[in-house]
Amino acid sequence: MKLQFSSSVASLLLILLPLSYAFPARRADESASNPGLKGSKTLIGYSPSEKVGSTTTPDIKYSLLPGQTNDPDIGTWLDFSKVDNPQPIRGDTGGDDPGPRNLNYDRIHSDKLAPPGTDHGATINAQWPMGLSHNRLGIDNAGWARQENTVVMPAATEMAGVDMRLEPAAYRELHWHVASEWSLILNGSCRIQAVNENGETFVDDLTAGDVWFFPPGIPHSIQALDDGVEFLLVFDDGGFNEDNTFLATEVFLHSPKEVLAKNLGVSIADFEDIPDDELYIFKGTPAPKDIEEQNVTTSSGVVPRTKSYSYHFSEQEPHEVAGGSVKIVDPSTFPLASNFSAAVVTVHPGGMREIHWHPSSDEWTFFIKGQGRATIFTAPEAANTFDFMAGDVGYFPQSNSHYIENTGQEDLVFLEVLQASEFTDVALGQWIASTPKQIISDTLKLSDSTLSKLKTEKQYVVAGSTSDE
Ligand SMILES: *[C@@H]1O[C@H](CO)[C@@H](O)[C@H](O)[C@H]1NC(C)=O
Ligand SMILES: *[C@@H]1O[C@H](CO)[C@@H](O)[C@H](O)[C@H]1NC(C)=O
Ligand SMILES: *[C@@H]1O[C@H](CO)[C@@H](O)[C@H](O)[C@H]1NC(C)=O
Repeated sequence: MKLQFSSSVASLLLILLPLSYAFPARRADESASNPGLKGSKTLIGYSPSEKVGSTTTPDIKYSLLPGQTNDPDIGTWLDFSKVDNPQPIRGDTGGDDPGPRNLNYDRIHSDKLAPPGTDHGATINAQWPMGLSHNRLGIDNAGWARQENTVVMPAATEMAGVDMRLEPAAYRELHWHVASEWSLILNGSCRIQAVNENGETFVDDLTAGDVWFFPPGIPHSIQALDDGVEFLLVFDDGGFNEDNTFLATEVFLHSPKEVLAKNLGVSIADFEDIPDDELYIFKGTPAPKDIEEQNVTTSSGVVPRTKSYSYHFSEQEPHEVAGGSVKIVDPSTFPLASNFSAAVVTVHPGGMREIHWHPSSDEWTFFIKGQGRATIFTAPEAANTFDFMAGDVGYFPQSNSHYIENTGQEDLVFLEVLQASEFTDVALGQWIASTPKQIISDTLKLSDSTLSKLKTEKQYVVAGSTSDE
């Protein structure tokens, strides 16, 4: 220990000695109350005796990726993930970076470090990694939850999201909220249960890929089955806070026991064992295997199928397109979720969700698998490119055009959620191809041969080659 200490002191001295030789310290101001902490007023401004800089240029060792020497406007995606010392250089723009820097960020956000030449100005921040959210840990190793809302993504005003894990038999406590809740199950399976304003009951088992929806105020619970569950919640309010839901424990804790007893027609002593704090995420007894055991039927009846709180989206076949596939669920098939329209998009390596915008809603996106990049274009001339990975949230305001390009070697899978009664988008390719050729060539100076290649069909996902090919 002692040896280590003295050798590190020695190496510090080796670094500091030549520095203090070159820049002799000026005397500390004797009148300062903490003479060791502060310097002297004589340090202000110009000093004729001090020599700043060195005549030797520091030797920053790096090599550029092939795409980095291209015209910056080509905007080739740069894979910095295995580059020793990635540099903010594209063609003849940018310059080297001697530091300080965090190479971890620079390696996974190459479009931040060395943006395409077509980027310009500042758009909203369209990205939030759930990995940077505070994680709320449940009791007894029952699970966790982390959220994205306007606290971390101020421009994402229309929707917020929560990523939640429940271990086998764990519950998300019985609760309700002011916002509408839409959910996609990411892993495992769970049983959901609710009672609506008419006293009609609902219970269903759901698995990865299925969707549920709970309208404002409808009390519900979620319990993981044997394989545990992880799901994504999307709320129709960007300011939603998962910590501010109405919990069963809290409504009991904050109602006078005399009132509870009168209300439920029981005695005050019956409430002796209610928990003295909220449970939120906690372990329960495993749900009975047979769902019928939890199918409470009363004189009010069950929630009719047309008003079901669940949609078995996992059983819907994807629509195959050139570069991947798309699945859409919106109120035309899941009517209760009257303002939630969503697509799960798979993009094969090299492919790309085509340039499009949503005419009637902002888009809240969650990256489920793989990696990709997106440029958001905001009128009149702002464009910023973001690199996304599984676990990241993306946000594209209404009518702001964007694409999502697979930048990895495996399928990219992501969810797009809109606040709209129908899933709609305007595709740049279809628009240009379906406009009179004369108008397009007058405006964009595209040749007749180029115009003849454009496709009037919406592509959703186009195919392409990966940067390695
Ligand atoms: C759920 O997660 C486990 C552990 O990572 C994984 O083995 C399994 O394939 C996942 N299931 C789905 C449906 O993604
Ligand atoms: C619950 O019972 C009702 C009435 O018998 C039935 O219509 C419904 O399908 C049952 N639900 C489940 C999940 O089994
Ligand atoms: C649907 O969402 C949009 C966008 O947030 C909102 O303007 C509209 O009022 C919502 N409609 C309903 C029926 O909630």
